[in-house]
Amino acid sequence: MTQEEVFRNLTAHCKEYGFIFQSSEIYDGLAAVYDYGQLGVELKNNIKTYWWDAMVRLHDNIVGIDSAIFMHPKIWEASGHVAAFNDPLIDNKDSKKRYRADVLIEDYLAKLEEKMNKEVEKGRRKFGESFDEAQFRATNPNVLRSKAKWDEVHTRMVKALDANDLEEMRQIIIDCDIVCPISGTKNWTEVRKFNLMFSTQLGNVDGGVGTIYLRPETAQGIFVNFLNVQKTGRMKIPFGIAQIGKAFRNEIVARQFIFRMREFEQMEMQFFIKPGTEMEWFAKWKETRLAWHKAIGLGDEKYRFHDHDKLAHYANAATDIEFEFPFGFKELEGIHSRTDFDLGNHQRMSGRKMQYFDPETNESYVPYVIETSIGVDRTVLAVLSSAYHEEELEGGEKRVVMSLPPALAPVKAAILPLVKKDGLPEKAREILHSLRVDFNCQYDEKDSIGRRYRRQDAIGTPICVTVDHDTLADNTVTVRYRDTMTQDRIPVENLHKVIADQVNINNLLRKNIE
Ligand code: GAP
Repeated sequence: MTQEEVFRNLTAHCKEYGFIFQSSEIYDGLAAVYDYGQLGVELKNNIKTYWWDAMVRLHDNIVGIDSAIFMHPKIWEASGHVAAFNDPLIDNKDSKKRYRADVLIEDYLAKLEEKMNKEVEKGRRKFGESFDEAQFRATNPNVLRSKAKWDEVHTRMVKALDANDLEEMRQIIIDCDIVCPISGTKNWTEVRKFNLMFSTQLGNVDGGVGTIYLRPETAQGIFVNFLNVQKTGRMKIPFGIAQIGKAFRNEIVARQFIFRMREFEQMEMQFFIKPGTEMEWFAKWKETRLAWHKAIGLGDEKYRFHDHDKLAHYANAATDIEFEFPFGFKELEGIHSRTDFDLGNHQRMSGRKMQYFDPETNESYVPYVIETSIGVDRTVLAVLSSAYHEEELEGGEKRVVMSLPPALAPVKAAILPLVKKDGLPEKAREILHSLRVDFNCQYDEKDSIGRRYRRQDAIGTPICVTVDHDTLADNTVTVRYRDTMTQDRIPVENLHKVIADQVNINNLLRKNIE
C-alpha cells in the first residue's frame, strides 16, 4: 500500500472510530476546519497535558497563562501581522484553483530532491557494499545536474521572498515550467499578496465599532502580559510564559487533513532573556524541544531540524522541527529567536514601558525572546499517522491497530466480561469502578471477545482486561496487550500497577529530564 493510501485509510479510520470529524458535515462541511470526536479529544488533551507538564511543571522558571482570543487591534499592528502576515498567491486561469506561489516552487524543489534520492538508490543497488554515497553525490552527472538546478531555483526563491518580489516569484514558476496539478496548464495569473488574518467587528473599541482580528498566533497574548506576569510572579530573567490556545489563519492552501487548518491550536512558550544571550538559549531550546518529541517514542529518525531560509518578520534565527508525515518531512514545531521585536514594538505603540529591571546590574532593558511554538493538531496527526497499522495475522485474518504511545492513548484499559451472564458483568463493573478514578477505561460486553479485542486495537487501547468464570473463584483476570497480543493472568489487586506502569504520562516526562 502506498503512503497516500495509508493516509486516506487513516482519515477514514479517524472518522469511523470517533477521533476526528469534518466540521459542519451535515451541511457538506467547512473546508480545512475539523471537529475532534470522543476519542480525538482525549488524545488531544493527553498531548496538551504532556506539553504543559514538561514546560510548566518541570521548569521552575516557566509559568502558564490563558489569554483571550480577542485582543486590541493595535496589537496586530505592533506585531507586524497587519502589514506582513501575507502569503504570495497565484491562480491558475483554467482550473480556477489558487495556490501559494512559494509552495508551488517548494514542491518543485522537493521533486528535484526526490529525483536525486532515486538516483542515489539506483547507485546503491548497483555498487552494493562498496557504495560511497558522498562520493556518488559529488560525481554522478545526473545528481549534479539536478543539484545545480535545485541550488539555482532555491537561491532565486529565497531572494524573491526576501525582497517581496512577486513578479520574480511568478517568473520562477514560468521558468521552471510548473503546471497546475489540476488542469495541467501553465496559464497563471499575477502573484498577489493575501493577508491571513480573519477579521470581525467588535463594539466599543476606542468607543466605536471597530475591526478586530482573530489571533493568528497565541504568542501576542503572552507578550502583552509580560509585565503583568513578571511583576506579580516576581519572575527573574531568564524566565518563560507558556500558553495553549486556539489560533486562526485564512489558509489558502488547506490540505492534508488536520495538517493545515483554518482554526487550530498552538502550544507556545516565550522565553525572556538578556540581549546577547539569544544564540545560547536558541541552541538550548532546540535541544530541549527535540528531546520532548523523541520521548513520545514515534522513532528518533522521524525528526529533523530545518533552518529557515526566509526569516519571519520578527526573527533573527529560526528553525523548524520537522516530522516525517506520510506525505514527507514537514514542519511540526517552530523555534524562533524573536529578539526584542515584539516587546519593543508594543512599547512604542502603547507608550508603556516593556522593560525588565535587572537587580544584579541595576539596569533596565527590553528582553530578547526565544519562542517555541508547536501545533497541537499537527502533533495529533504525527501520533496518529505513526500509530496506524494494517496487519495480516496468522490464518489470513486482518486487524487494524493503532499503536498509540500508551501514555497518550485515549482509553487506557478496556474491561470485558467474557460472557454477559453468571455474575461476570457485575464483577467486571466492580473492577471498572476501582480503576476509573485513575484511568480512562471502557466497559464492553457486546459481541464475541475476539471482536471486542479488535475494536480496542482499532482505537489504540493498550490493555484489555478479561473477566471470566475463574475470576469469580480466584480473583484473577487475563490481561491482553495490544501490540503483541500476548496475554498474562494476574491477580486483580495487581491490575492498577500493571496499567499504571504502561500508561502513566510521567513515563514520558521522566525521559525529558534524564
Ligand atoms: N508564534 C509563532 C508561530 O505562530 P508558526 O511557525 O507560524 O509560528 C507554529 O506556527 C506552529 O503552529 C507550526 O509549527 C504548526 O505546528 C502550527 N500551525 C501553523 N499553522 C497551522 C495551520 N494552519 N494548521 C495547523 N497547524 C498550524
